[in-house]
Amino acid sequence: MAHVLFDKEELQGRQAYFLITSLVVPRPIAWVSSLAADGTLNLAPHSYFNIISSGPPIVHFTSTGIKDSLTNVKATGEFVINIVNEQMMDQMNDTAANFPSEENEFEWAGVETAPSVYVAPPRVARAPAALECKLNQIVSLGNGNMVFGDVVAIHVDEGVMHEGRVEADLLKPLGRLGGSNYATVAGHTLRIARPTWDDMKERGKQ
Ligand SMILES: Cc1cc2nc3c(=O)[nH]c(=O)nc-3n(C[C@H](O)[C@H](O)[C@H](O)COP(=O)(O)O)c2cc1C
Repeated sequence: MAHVLFDKEELQGRQAYFLITSLVVPRPIAWVSSLAADGTLNLAPHSYFNIISSGPPIVHFTSTGIKDSLTNVKATGEFVINIVNEQMMDQMNDTAANFPSEENEFEWAGVETAPSVYVAPPRVARAPAALECKLNQIVSLGNGNMVFGDVVAIHVDEGVMHEGRVEADLLKPLGRLGGSNYATVAGHTLRIARPTWDDMKERGKQ
């Protein structure tokens, strides 16, 4: 195996972007709905998205630079993270176009809204799940503005649940890979039990 080494000096601009976004994969996609101060509705995908805490639930998405989603969340303190499934790939992708701020991506992409319960921005009606969030804080590092949100409610389509748990094969989440590539999970999930320290001691070093 021959590994190519990219030094910090080489990790600049597009080169760094393509390398790191092709390697940190697959990334979940937060389809963020938010409202501007003037009430304009906004919807945009963000794959720099993850869990920070499960108790209480706190998530984050990161805006590379300053975009409408970030501006809206700063102004209103509220947003919804809609989970993107395979069926919503085209509509999700349409909402990533560089629309002027005054345009409503829900309308352009033909995405139906459903009311949220605790926050003003609506959720995506046909998304398999949606996390209603209130802004916790924004942390800026490099060109990333990390938006941390306290999850105040979660909507889950009962059709993706089995015996009280979300089933990946039913959820059919879409994952972002490098460039314009996406990963699907349904039908390809693997299951493995995590060993305990006692299990490992019994098995020995490999
Ligand atoms: C799958 C996918 C994931 C994306 N992830 C991010 C991201 O994590 N951060 C970001 O700033 N832009 C990301 N983008 C680009 C934004 O969606 C795009 O710049 C969009 O126009 C921003 O919309 P806004 O100005 O309404 O917030 C992504 C695009 C796609 C298609």
